[in-house]
Amino acid sequence: MNKKKFIPGKTKVQYAGAYYDNKEVDAMIKSIKKGWFGVGEKADKFEKEFAQFIGVKNAIVTNSGSSATLLAVAGFGFKPGLEIITPACNFPTSFNPIVQLGLVPVLIDVDLGTYNIKAELIEKAITKKTVALLIPHTLGNPCNMKKIMKIKKKYNLKLIEDNCDALGSTYNNQKTGSFGDVATCSFYPAHHITIGEGGMVYLNSNSRERKIRSLRDWGRACHCKWDQKNPHGACKNRFNFQLGDLPKGYDHRYTYTSIGYNLKPVEFQCAMGLEQLKKLPFFVKKRRQNFTKLYNYFKKFEKYFILPKWEKEAKPSWFSFPLTVKDKAPFSRRDISIYLEDHNIQTRPLFAGNIIRHPAYKNVKYRISGSLKNSDKILLDTFFIGVWPGMDDEQIGYIKKTVNKFFKQLY
Ligand SMILES: Cc1ncc(COP(=O)(O)O)c(C=O)c1O
Repeated sequence: MNKKKFIPGKTKVQYAGAYYDNKEVDAMIKSIKKGWFGVGEKADKFEKEFAQFIGVKNAIVTNSGSSATLLAVAGFGFKPGLEIITPACNFPTSFNPIVQLGLVPVLIDVDLGTYNIKAELIEKAITKKTVALLIPHTLGNPCNMKKIMKIKKKYNLKLIEDNCDALGSTYNNQKTGSFGDVATCSFYPAHHITIGEGGMVYLNSNSRERKIRSLRDWGRACHCKWDQKNPHGACKNRFNFQLGDLPKGYDHRYTYTSIGYNLKPVEFQCAMGLEQLKKLPFFVKKRRQNFTKLYNYFKKFEKYFILPKWEKEAKPSWFSFPLTVKDKAPFSRRDISIYLEDHNIQTRPLFAGNIIRHPAYKNVKYRISGSLKNSDKILLDTFFIGVWPGMDDEQIGYIKKTVNKFFKQLY
């Protein structure tokens, strides 16, 4: 929908975008016309189908990927001061919940090319205070799950997978997001599927699912769903509870057992999500095809760029096409980014690079394990361009022509 005729140099080559048609629009209008805006039937179905796609038991839809990660971490109820290991090259709101919940982030470097946590350095960073690993599959590229799962088991750590960029990726034929204790996804329009703004937390544990749903829904104790017909609740004891200092018989629907948030999306977004899920196999295929076309083209510039790398067990569902400008290249990331942007090709840095270099983290308590050399390089020298399904050979051809011109004018 809204696909513009591509005029090279005039039409923007976006790094990402929402890809949808009348199916999504009709589904949303139908949902709105029903007059139910809070999460309901469509949300339930979206959660169920999403969980099935990943291969986990439970999914909880949220209003963003950031909210999903906040809930994923909060769901464990870790005591403040405990440590969570995470890469220094990170996305701000994947990192922030650690700080916001009073925990201490322990930072490890990433590899250049995969941009994922250096799994071989995790063991060294573990102390008595370590309780979890919070690990993003960066730009859709699966981490070394063999090593990570071994460490998780050996030290009995919780594993939170930030799968926001990696919907549809597999490692050893298993979907990313199904390895850990909990995982998250983002449905912002830059991601593999979109509902405008939205996200998902997903996990196998039924008890933690209840906890996370309560945290999402104001901290309430009651687990009755939108379609509960019995006025006395699913438990039939709505007016018979006695909890905390509340009087006996206090209405359980408005009893609070968690310090909660409200991080719910609205129902018609979930109607969109159900249509997007149907398109997901096509999206993943198209992203992989666009990635391969760009990879084959950029290979001739390996002298200047570190090309993307991935584990041999990994089949990434790429978010984008990352490049790192090598130290000896006769141009900087700034030079090539400005050139591409001036020619209407969108570029982005790899999220925050080394996150602790940003002003917001100046007074934050964290611990660094080892050197963060690569995260610092990424901060300065890495950028990405798009591979999203809205990109066709026309746009890819234009990228190639423009990059060829950039190198011609260099010499
Ligand atoms: C790796 C990663 N984690 C988390 C997020 C946050 O998702 P959202 O924008 O839906 O809050 C993003 C967003 O782009 C992301 O790329």
